[in-house]
Amino acid sequence: RERPVIAIDGPAGAGKSTLAAHLARRFGFLNLETGAMYRALALKAIENDYGFDEEAPLLSLASNTRITLEPQLEGNRVLLDGTDVSRRIREQDVTSAASQISIHPQLRAWMVHQQRALGAKGGVVMEGRDIGTAVFPDAEVKIFLDAAPEVRGNRRYRQAAPVEHPTDRQNAARQAPDPQTIEQKRLAEAAIIAELKERDHRDRTRVESPLQPAADAIILDSTAMSLNEVLAAAEAIVRSHL
Ligand code: C5P
Repeated sequence: RERPVIAIDGPAGAGKSTLAAHLARRFGFLNLETGAMYRALALKAIENDYGFDEEAPLLSLASNTRITLEPQLEGNRVLLDGTDVSRRIREQDVTSAASQISIHPQLRAWMVHQQRALGAKGGVVMEGRDIGTAVFPDAEVKIFLDAAPEVRGNRRYRQAAPVEHPTDRQNAARQAPDPQTIEQKRLAEAAIIAELKERDHRDRTRVESPLQPAADAIILDSTAMSLNEVLAAAEAIVRSHL
């Protein structure tokens, strides 16, 4: 190929998409979110009442499906048979379904085949679970972005939580936060952490290309790092490899 491939793998919520988009901008590459392809097919399965456990029907569904990733400055625009599903595929039911269908070996082979074609010319930052191990084992740069589950869950939670604007009256009264609200937040965050752990477990224990760092991947553990530190560290890794 003419230009390099940068592989970004790691568990859910580690910040792979943010990192991939950043590196793509920095180096003038395209960013490709392979998880969006699993999500798009999962959405089609949901819409057509397919189960997630049986591979053969899902495989024939896939063979009649066109999934397009359009790289944008932030993430990808995702088309499923020509329809923009970029938002819909981020919802919880699709997230869970994507995790479940992604264990099927032949379905993965179908995905990997397309992902290799997308990255064939290089000049891409490709993000997923198996890029460095299965899709591009010969990638010029491989980064495995990790973080403790509690930290990943907390970041996800804060991303999703609406920003609070206390009223002037509340400020004036310096009201202590309502204990009930604190408990609700704690439960919401715990649910996100539990869901991340469940998806990770499925990704790590599947037979076909389980989630694990490639032998030659550089592991970046962001547990105690700020976003800017992660971006700077990854950028330095890429520069030293190109
Ligand atoms: O990365 P994202 O959370 O969007 O991926 C959705 C699901 O697709 C993951 O939970 C994982 O099970 C699966 N996936 C995968 N291999 C990839 C990308 C995603 O198995 N390369």
